[in-house]
Amino acid sequence: MDKSIKNIAETVQQMLKNAEGGHDWLHINRVYKNAMQIYNKEKKGDLYILQLAALLHDIADAKFNNGDEAIASELALKVMLGNSVPENVINEVIKIIENMSYRSRYDNSGFTSIEMDIVRDADMLDALGAIGIARAFNYGGFKNRPLYDPEGKPQKITSKDQYIRNDGPTIHHFFEKLIKLKDLMQTETGKEMAKERHEYLVTFINQFYDDIGEDKPDI
Ligand code: ADP
Ligand code: NI
Repeated sequence: MDKSIKNIAETVQQMLKNAEGGHDWLHINRVYKNAMQIYNKEKKGDLYILQLAALLHDIADAKFNNGDEAIASELALKVMLGNSVPENVINEVIKIIENMSYRSRYDNSGFTSIEMDIVRDADMLDALGAIGIARAFNYGGFKNRPLYDPEGKPQKITSKDQYIRNDGPTIHHFFEKLIKLKDLMQTETGKEMAKERHEYLVTFINQFYDDIGEDKPDI
């Protein structure tokens, strides 16, 4: 492993030591591993850019920093400059970080790259399956949200602002985002890896509504 990658991994681990349980160092580590699994299968993209993007993609999410959208790339830039990452690589990684989040889909800048496709798929995989369920309810708990609401319905989200402001019950997040992820996967390997995790999510949702004796919303 490149020395700067090792150093940056240590820095990120340190920076995230008080992070919410779904966006902590363990999340970064899982995304990194997913990204390596996809890369090793697809044999596409630049490994160094991929590694940096995976490690730095969640070091300062706006939703944990009073909505500050600039802080993520500012910190990533600082970490890369401190580790002598070449300027052309820094530029690519910053573009990935600024464009890869789910909410960025609502104000798409048009930027794409194979490395972004891989890291994004790797990140979406961690929002699916048993781990995705655990993360969603952890986030909901962190925000003190109800698990479900027998009166309410999941929203049809059409803008980034609506996505960010949404403070509905956690189970609605499954309809609003999580079950849509498998169709957003870009790499063949990612699509393959998402299948089982997606099925698990659907089974969970069905069991959840059975358990509470309510009808499952149909959107
Ligand atoms: P991105 O950072 O890609 O824009 P989010 O931060 O919104 O995406 O989502 C990352 C993860 O955070 C989700 O997969 C989920 O685990 C958790 N999360 C985000 N918003 C919610 C929510 N409203 N309810 C439950 N979990 C959420
Ligand atoms: Ni992430």
